[in-house]
Amino acid sequence: MARSPRRLFLGFDVGTQGAKGLLLDGERGVVVARATRAYGLIEGLPVGAAEQHPDTWAAALRALTAELFATPQVDAAELAAIGVSGQQHGCVVLDERGEVVRPAKLWCDTSTAEEARELSARLGRHLPAGYTASKLLWLARHEPKNFARVRHVLLPHDWINFRLTERPTMEAGDASGTGLFDPVARQFDRAAVEAVDSRLAAMLPPVLAAGACAGELTEAGARWLGLPRCALGAFVATGGGDNMMSAIGSGATKSGIAVLSLGTSATLFSYSERPIVDPSGAIAPFCDSTGACLPLLCVMNATGVLEEVRAAFGSDLATLTREAEQVEHGCGGLTFVPFLNGERVPDLPLASGAVVGLRPGLLRRGHLFRAALEGVALNLAWGAARMRALGIAINSIRLVGGGARNPLWRQILADSLAAPIQPLADAESAALGAALQALWSWRRARGEAVSADAVATPWIRFEGEAIEPSAAGVTRYAELQAEFKETCDRLFSATPAGATPSNASPRRTSRSLRGRN
Ligand code: XUL
Repeated sequence: MARSPRRLFLGFDVGTQGAKGLLLDGERGVVVARATRAYGLIEGLPVGAAEQHPDTWAAALRALTAELFATPQVDAAELAAIGVSGQQHGCVVLDERGEVVRPAKLWCDTSTAEEARELSARLGRHLPAGYTASKLLWLARHEPKNFARVRHVLLPHDWINFRLTERPTMEAGDASGTGLFDPVARQFDRAAVEAVDSRLAAMLPPVLAAGACAGELTEAGARWLGLPRCALGAFVATGGGDNMMSAIGSGATKSGIAVLSLGTSATLFSYSERPIVDPSGAIAPFCDSTGACLPLLCVMNATGVLEEVRAAFGSDLATLTREAEQVEHGCGGLTFVPFLNGERVPDLPLASGAVVGLRPGLLRRGHLFRAALEGVALNLAWGAARMRALGIAINSIRLVGGGARNPLWRQILADSLAAPIQPLADAESAALGAALQALWSWRRARGEAVSADAVATPWIRFEGEAIEPSAAGVTRYAELQAEFKETCDRLFSATPAGATPSNASPRRTSRSLRGRN
């Protein structure tokens, strides 16, 4: 009997430090090829600005595609569907010909803090500087000529979908990170759109339903990506923000599954059937990309902080980890406040980092590295407490992302978050989730009534045993967390998650503590 043709599902994740791609064989349940490409931010911008030109993502995706389809026995004619994951919140603006007007301001760009504060006051709800809305107000104010040319506003993954299908669209998951979207009604919030600019409504694309088709791969799209004509017509799924795609790729497609993703940012999120709106604004009330919700904590400083310490000592992570393992919990009184890029939770977009409690004998690389690991974990624990207070169960946590491999950090996280940490075998959950969303949406389009969970769950594999929190570690980190909060209060008057974060402002005026703008 003739074997049915193989169907391949392509997942891309366009991140801050690079892009990843993978190809799934949908029927056999295996990943047949993977590739990654690194890139950086535009250099030389004013402090606080973080930008990338979409062409950087395009070049990386073309290189990934060439590598993936050069894999022996992989044929572009087998490509059934494509799913795209992208860094959330980035602001891609296009003119009437669909050309990029200026580089995208990214989720980690804090140069729009003033616009975010102003919009928060106008709307009566907290709007972090990282969200797209403040970048649009910034553009209208600081670059009015550029703003006047804008006809389409897209998020990073929407822009890639646009290049593949020639149709501008959004979907609820990523759109819920614009600050312009009502996550309960799952549609744009007119008041928020109007508050930015009266011309903005006409620039926003239609919002697709979860599991819908964003379009088919067009001839121009295939040429843009470097795929041959035999791939034309491939199904392009809605895609979504990287955290939404990571949720699919880590099985957070049903209630009770919490996931910690350690990358440039660290996020802790959980699938929820109903929207969870935090009045303090600390926990984002995002939609997911399967039709449900994704309450999410995002701290801006994670693996980048460790990398800074590594680079400062010219060492490698394995050596630093070995040395940090010899240091006791709390590093002899050293507190590393990791807000190097400003911070979202607590709401301190203009803050900078600090090392507090230095005494003779503590200025060692093992101490500083452990203090950095602890600082990121304690800040996450601060937000996790807020999630729990909102009724979000965080009983056991799946661990993904580039920073998920460090064994010491895993234990510190289990202790400070007081929950077992279960690393997943596929740490690149966003690219996997993008391919799985493509598989799910493609099957639905063929008339199958299949849930995203039924498609995703069989792909989720654990790496080894869960890391259990130790009783002594949990007690110690609870004490250290109180000290960490106190230190932040002293330095910045930071409000704990749950109070009104928009009131948080640095108390000291010295430039090193106050931040970078
Ligand atoms: C989430 C957030 C980050 C980016 C990173 O709200 O801003 O996790 O999505 O790409």
